[in-house]
Amino acid sequence: MFVLVNLKTYPCDPIAVAEAVRDVDETTDARLAVAPQAAQLERVAETGAETWAQHVDSIEHGSNTGHTLAESVADAGAVGTLINHSERRLKLADIDGAVRAAQRADLETVVCANNPAQIGAAAALGPDSVAVEPPALIGTGTPVSQADPDVVEDAVDAAATVDADVSVLCGAGISTGDDVVAAGDLGAEGVLLASGVAKADDPKAALEDLVEPL
Ligand code: G3P
Repeated sequence: MFVLVNLKTYPCDPIAVAEAVRDVDETTDARLAVAPQAAQLERVAETGAETWAQHVDSIEHGSNTGHTLAESVADAGAVGTLINHSERRLKLADIDGAVRAAQRADLETVVCANNPAQIGAAAALGPDSVAVEPPALIGTGTPVSQADPDVVEDAVDAAATVDADVSVLCGAGISTGDDVVAAGDLGAEGVLLASGVAKADDPKAALEDLVEPL
């Protein structure tokens, strides 16, 4: 299972969380990664933790003030990027362009979507993975894999119908190892989570709990 920890703009210490991600990754067969804010990518990558960006824009080098260039994210040490997170929604053409930009920079891609229908559309753009996250469950501590299992199964089916090679993650409310196991049982190959780790008093203990049953 892939466990991707999105730090959003939570006031956690990104280096401490990254070090925990790195250390727990070494104790498990699961793959752990962390997605800090863009300005923190380089320092986080230097910890040795697998580092992801939260977003890249559909742009190339040039006149694009205030945008995030995929090549700069890769130069900072990121190996992948989220695209179209529920809190950073893009138009379809911009999702497509961001996937292309990430591929140009050799970044792995996870395109997020709200529901199975959008997952089918996202899969058609050819990312490495898609992630289904019902917005209403984000940050609630109520896990999608247990509260809304149909949305995960339907997302897996929708993605497979479009592209058998795209893997499906799920996210929203995931915070325990049981939630991760439930996601895997529904066909997800990983989870995308944030508050369960970023807001935990002890992020390392939270990560250990997440991977313990795997
Ligand atoms: O990107 C992960 C996310 O949106 C889910 O957040 O806090 O419910 O784990 P959370």
